[in-house]
Amino acid sequence: MTFKEPNQVIGKEIKKIACIGVGVIGHSWATLFSMKGYTVHIQDINDEAIQRSLHWIKTALDLCAEKGLIDERDAKTAFNRVKPTTDMSEAVSEADYIVESVLEDYDVKKKVFREIDAAASEEAIIASSSSFLLMTEIQKATKRPERCIEAHPYNPPHLIPLVELVPGEATSKTTVTRTFHFMKSLGKIPIVTKKEVYGYIANRLQRGLTREANDIVNSGVASVEDVDKALSVGPGIRWAIYGSYLVNYFNTPSHLTQGRKLPGMVKEGYEEYSLLKGKSFNDMVRWRDSMLIDVLRVLKHLPKSSAEEPLS
Ligand SMILES: NC(=O)c1ccc[n+]([C@@H]2O[C@H](COP(=O)([O-])OP(=O)(O)OC[C@H]3O[C@@H](n4cnc5c(N)ncnc54)[C@H](O)[C@@H]3O)[C@@H](O)[C@H]2O)c1
Repeated sequence: MTFKEPNQVIGKEIKKIACIGVGVIGHSWATLFSMKGYTVHIQDINDEAIQRSLHWIKTALDLCAEKGLIDERDAKTAFNRVKPTTDMSEAVSEADYIVESVLEDYDVKKKVFREIDAAASEEAIIASSSSFLLMTEIQKATKRPERCIEAHPYNPPHLIPLVELVPGEATSKTTVTRTFHFMKSLGKIPIVTKKEVYGYIANRLQRGLTREANDIVNSGVASVEDVDKALSVGPGIRWAIYGSYLVNYFNTPSHLTQGRKLPGMVKEGYEEYSLLKGKSFNDMVRWRDSMLIDVLRVLKHLPKSSAEEPLS
């Protein structure tokens, strides 16, 4: 799905946020929203969970300040924007965007969606952080299925840009568009799936990789540590910049230039690839190598300058 007007506002502007279930993922969403200037109500099942979450949010904000992403005063202001409660109604009644990050289970998600639906304003969007489940099933629990959407982040959402937007059968285009623009305004990189499918995109790719990794270890080819090393100092460095299809483009350019047979819809996909438009292969190699040098320097695999001692 393409969006030609990135700043278009459809429906009510999103001003207030609620995060329901603030464990590993929910606290990180709350960190992001508070850093971006939003008042964010956080809700969980008991005080213990709330206190743990507040501690995690504060720690995350302090580290962002230590690393210069925000200044120290802004970290304190951001933390003060986080409003904790164990009461669902208090958390969601004024929110325009609500994201649940409770357990990965249809029954639990549906119960929470039902509770949110009963207490939230009519216009509010209800999003789920689910990693695999289908929104078509979850949204059945509400009276506003058109305003429910899957917004799957990658851990930790306050740092990793990806968010996969997966509409259910009843999700409206307006909800997809509003969520897409809202995510972009937060600095996230949203991808909208063309179809709803269990596990969406990134986790399916990751699962395929995990299956191969387990097979390598269990058939005695390499240790767990070496499998991780092979990934992180090899493909992982490239994947931080470009994905597997561009890897193939760089490794075997003849597949494209000499019209070799590509599987299924892949050929068409290359033709539509925006990064490749108007660029020669040499332009692309220059871009790739320049990005790789920058990344390798950050990872300390390359010296910062020729004057610096070579790294061992
Ligand atoms: N952990 C990851 O790497 C990751 C990444 C992306 C998405 N997700 C998804 O995010 C969701 C949450 O995962 P997590 O890893 O943060 O789990 P978690 O166990 O760390 O947190 C879940 C939180 O939900 C709370 N909770 C449970 N029932 C609740 C209810 N009825 N009302 C309010 N709060 C309730 C729990 O007390 C807990 O604090 C899952 O759907 C998961 O698939 C996880």
